[in-house]
Amino acid sequence: MLEDLEEQPNKKDLASYSNRRALFAAMVAHFAVFLFTTFIVYTAVPGSNFFSWHPVLMTLGFVLFLTEAILMFSQQSSLIRGDRKWQVRSHWILQVLAVVCGVGGFIIIYINKADRGKQHFTTWHGLLGLIATISCAVQAVAGIGLQYPILIKKFATLAQAKVYHATFGLLNYTLITLVLNLAMWSNWAKRNISGFSWYGCIACIDILALVVMTQVTNNQLPRLRRQR
Ligand code: HEM
Repeated sequence: MLEDLEEQPNKKDLASYSNRRALFAAMVAHFAVFLFTTFIVYTAVPGSNFFSWHPVLMTLGFVLFLTEAILMFSQQSSLIRGDRKWQVRSHWILQVLAVVCGVGGFIIIYINKADRGKQHFTTWHGLLGLIATISCAVQAVAGIGLQYPILIKKFATLAQAKVYHATFGLLNYTLITLVLNLAMWSNWAKRNISGFSWYGCIACIDILALVVMTQVTNNQLPRLRRQR
């Protein structure tokens, strides 16, 4: 009996094991963000033609800024060390940058297609990309309510609003993951990305989704339990 108890890992060991695992996952995510962003910017050669700004701005917005905005709340590894106030401030600054780049990338592809007399939103990438851009902008505006709870008092408590914000954020991130995966099947990707680097891009996109989803779920579950 005593031997059985001694063999069981104690709570402290388990906590430090899951902390180390979360730290490793966040480090992998930072690396995937860096790798994917650098690769797409390098491959698209920003400024080489008008279209090139679409993948560049979308990657900066929805991979670099948006992912880092969410990883800001990683308890083990956000790139900025600081208290909760700092995390929140960095989160909304990065979100604003993500929306600015996303809307910029959207305007570029819209004008590019209009100039060539092409129809809009005819592919799944284009259609879901439109929905993702709009829902990210809406999500960012809704986030103002968390900064100024007086604005949302009528609709929800602050604790409820935080859970809604995280849930819709997760849905948005899932949609963006889908849009990015579909981008890898576009004619542009077929012409410019091949072999090992294509698999590398897919791996980066999907690893990021996995890490972000795990982090948000783990941060929100205790909050949900408290609300019950
Ligand atoms: C590496 C990243 C990306 C690449 C290489 C890329 C590539 C392309 C290409 C080749 C097109 C033209 C063909 C089509 O209409 O499907 C396109 C259109 C479009 N993309 Fe992307 N894209 C990327 C990321 C994104 C992201 C993250 C979003 C939004 C969340 C997005 C939103 C759109 C939209 C809305 C259109 C359609 C515009 C229209 O039909 O007027 N893209 N993209």
